[in-house]
Amino acid sequence: MKKGKKLYEGKAKIIYASPEKNLVIQHFKDDATAFNNQKKATIDGKGILNNRISEYILSNLNEVGIKNHLIKRINMREQLVKSVEIIPIEFVVRNIATGSLTKRLGIEEGTILDYPLIEYCLKNDDLGDPLVSREHILSFNWMNIMELELINDQCKRINDFLQGMFRGVGIKLVDFKLEFGRSGQDNEIILADEISPDTCRLWDSRTEKKLDKDIFRKDLGNLIEGYQEVAKRLDILHEQSNIRPIKFPKPKAVKIKKK
Ligand code: TMP
Ligand code: ASP
Repeated sequence: MKKGKKLYEGKAKIIYASPEKNLVIQHFKDDATAFNNQKKATIDGKGILNNRISEYILSNLNEVGIKNHLIKRINMREQLVKSVEIIPIEFVVRNIATGSLTKRLGIEEGTILDYPLIEYCLKNDDLGDPLVSREHILSFNWMNIMELELINDQCKRINDFLQGMFRGVGIKLVDFKLEFGRSGQDNEIILADEISPDTCRLWDSRTEKKLDKDIFRKDLGNLIEGYQEVAKRLDILHEQSNIRPIKFPKPKAVKIKKK
């Protein structure tokens, strides 16, 4: 598919025009940033992994009725997606306290939250994506109340689905960030952007080893190995790629004693 002109460039992705009406091409870069762009690096293969993982998650969400922008993956780094007007709010859903929640409110690291907590951040790099309240959102018309209620509901449904999906492959979904957009003439709200180890915190269920962008944020080791582990467990790393495969030990046969 022929790419049109660049429409927007963010920190980890580029949006290009596509030959198809109302559709655009989302390109995943290898660039990684943290702490509002203060820490930067290019990590070979990150974009390829995020493209695959996000495709897998969004197509599964589509199958359970969560409408989203994904049409199809078109190559190793790109997806054809619906063109949306992005709502300028990042929706953060938390199951376990870590990251900015612990710093901001002094909640103990690792506290399991009684209910999923939804936080809203204004998408504005110059201001450092500040936390905002429902009242800010409504007062400044970033969304209307119906849109806000609908998105809150979707955040909870997405959390339920993703928690189950990751639990099944031995991963704790600690927290994640979602973005939504308005699509088509009737401004239908749909999930957009990406869901990947760049935008989620994913811990190995048993060891709590970090498998997400915290590896980069906190210099915990090889980010690609973490992302590959996520892809591998979700059983989506089959295609030949230029990412160096890592060897996994074969699981040992478990003998079950007869009573
Ligand atoms: P935080 O603890 O730094 O606020 O991050 C909460 C979650 O949101 C975590 O899974 C990382 C994700 N996130 C993004 O995807 N983009 C961002 O710009 C930020 C600040 C967080
Ligand atoms: N993506 C944000 C940044 O580039 C923050 C983060 O993910 O930690 O700074």
